[in-house]
Amino acid sequence: MKYDGNKSTPDTNSADNQTNADNYLEVNLQEMADKIEKAITPKTKWLIINSPSNPTGAGYSHDDMKAITDVLLKHPQVWVMTDDMYELVVYDDFKFVTPAQVEPKLYERTLTLNGVSKAYCMTGWRVGYAAGAPALIKAMNKVQSQSTTHTSSISQAAAVAALNGPQDFIAEHNAVFRERRDLVVEMLNQTEGLSCPTPDGAFYVYPSCAALMGKKTPGGKVIETDDDFIAYLLETEGVAAVQGSAFGLSPHFRVSYATSTEALTEACKRIQRACAALG
Ligand SMILES: Cc1ncc(COP(=O)(O)O)c(C=O)c1O
Repeated sequence: MKYDGNKSTPDTNSADNQTNADNYLEVNLQEMADKIEKAITPKTKWLIINSPSNPTGAGYSHDDMKAITDVLLKHPQVWVMTDDMYELVVYDDFKFVTPAQVEPKLYERTLTLNGVSKAYCMTGWRVGYAAGAPALIKAMNKVQSQSTTHTSSISQAAAVAALNGPQDFIAEHNAVFRERRDLVVEMLNQTEGLSCPTPDGAFYVYPSCAALMGKKTPGGKVIETDDDFIAYLLETEGVAAVQGSAFGLSPHFRVSYATSTEALTEACKRIQRACAALG
């Protein structure tokens, strides 16, 4: 499931919103491959992949990833940086894949990034890690050792404990996250003017607010962009979300559901109220 900025978004809040939402996320694999192919020039050095994704929660299936790696095979100067941070935060029958697994010929030019912030709930411990070609890792070490030196030894020991310790809590956490995802998707799809697809992983949803563009707030301000909409939510209802313009795909916004079910229910009620008040 991927986001495609060129696809039209649904402009009504209809009963088959969910279907519409799913449709606007779908992208033709050939189309995606063509776009990547077109974007690559002789000067291109890296392609960054992040699946499941922040901000959309969308994840690449094996076939999706294969479409990308097939393009990369034709361009040996392009290295792959894969941010696998949400590898373990996936739902339903989604199967995480990483590029070098799908295309082993890319192994030598793949830099794999990961960390303990998400699956192990260790945001703030500041531990991320990378694996890649020895020469590249050596160069990264050179830069890092002159800037941050290293993350604290206590954080490093905690990360080792997280990675080597029991992993069963991850499935329990994911079950709770999935419930929260479903709650938020359902409540946003019940909201006048919003359309929210169901993502495969991470803990974000990325609804479209296209149908709200041009509407007026009770204070008389016209909502012209997702920035306007997000400011309106914050100012009138105290709900914080992130405008899609920050991620390069508008008019959408990102909602994080990494918070309590009570807070999410209240926030979605407030979003519903704010949208209903637009005229
Ligand atoms: C895709 C992705 N990669 C990396 C990070 C970095 O996480 P941290 O700085 O907490 O290790 C984040 C955090 O939001 C993320 O969403």
